Amino acid sequence: MQDKFQRKINYMRMSITDRCNLHCQYCMPNGLENPLPMDRLLTYEELLQVAKAAVACGITRFKVTGGEPLVRKGAVDFMASLKALPGVEQVTITTNGLLLSEALPRFQEMGLDGINVSLDTLIPERFYEITGFDALDKVLQGIKEAVVSGIPVKLNTVLQKGVNEDEIFALLALCKKYPLDLRFIEMMPIGYGKEQDGIGNDFLLEKLKRIYPEMTKDISTHGNGPAKYYKIPGFQGSVGFISAMHGKFCAHCNRVRLTSTGKIKPCLCFGNSIDVRECLRNPAFSEEQRDEILLEKIQESIWAKPESHCFEKLSEVTEKREMGRIGG
Ligand code: GTP
Ligand code: 5AD
Ligand code: SF4
Repeated sequence: MQDKFQRKINYMRMSITDRCNLHCQYCMPNGLENPLPMDRLLTYEELLQVAKAAVACGITRFKVTGGEPLVRKGAVDFMASLKALPGVEQVTITTNGLLLSEALPRFQEMGLDGINVSLDTLIPERFYEITGFDALDKVLQGIKEAVVSGIPVKLNTVLQKGVNEDEIFALLALCKKYPLDLRFIEMMPIGYGKEQDGIGNDFLLEKLKRIYPEMTKDISTHGNGPAKYYKIPGFQGSVGFISAMHGKFCAHCNRVRLTSTGKIKPCLCFGNSIDVRECLRNPAFSEEQRDEILLEKIQESIWAKPESHCFEKLSEVTEKREMGRIGG
């Protein structure tokens, strides 16, 4: 369906857990202070009911996120069921890559449409500093195997001043060597991201254009996200920029978010949301009534989408939770 600003909403990001097996500085540096009790999370069956209603609203593409989605038991089976749901055209995952290798055979079997892996550094000690865990080898292994699997792979890099800005070219070399895309994400002032010093993509793009003057815009479709892509001759993959701070992409926004506790969020930066868990768990509703209410709630959240985010005016950002709790 279209929202108030004539944007076609066909993409839902579903967070299936708030837990994570890494503790990134800009997301949950101390781990999750109060992990949600399991009964507050939507069950897989409930998530599929929401997905079915979303399909009825014209949403056909789903991104499974977390926290780290693969830490939730049964996540891979859930994704297979989601992918098999009538009307679902695309299912992709965003993961930190730690549990990726084990999941790949099933991902291939179900026909998963894409894998995004967060990777901020190629230096093991730095990986430990950023994420709190000594696990870079495992992540790199997962990425390499994912590339071999033939499922499209994208890497997500958040650059931080004084932390990993010296690795821009080492990271870029990955999309020269392998057929994968590398995206630079601007740090967003959400949760602990407010306390970190990001690097602007405007600055970065100018720097790359100086070094690769033959770099050209890549207008082919790489996914459903806000990234803008460029091609560099000799590189197998493209380089993407997700510029939440220095390039508003909201005019093309196509998504709503579902948190793991069953709140539909119209926009990442605002705290408002519409609860669907209550209606999923209310025994007074018949299946038809429940599906109808779910449909109305999704339509309501699409209608509540603001014209754009407000990251440039921090005082107006009303989302107070960590990124891991809202699915990024
Ligand atoms: P695909 O390209 O289809 O894989 O989607 P994507 O780039 O949206 O996926 P991913 O989960 O890898 O998200 C990458 C980054 O984009 C994360 O940091 C997200 O928080 C950010 N992002 C995704 N959607 C939005 C959005 O609507 N607004 C903002 N500000 N950031 C977003
Ligand atoms: N700003 C920008 N990106 C963030 N991510 C997590 N927190 C932030 C933040 N505050 C990124 C992760 C992951 C993606 C889903 O979101 O690095 O790649
Ligand atoms: Fe986990 Fe992703 Fe948050 Fe890092 S950014 S702690 S990998 S949810």
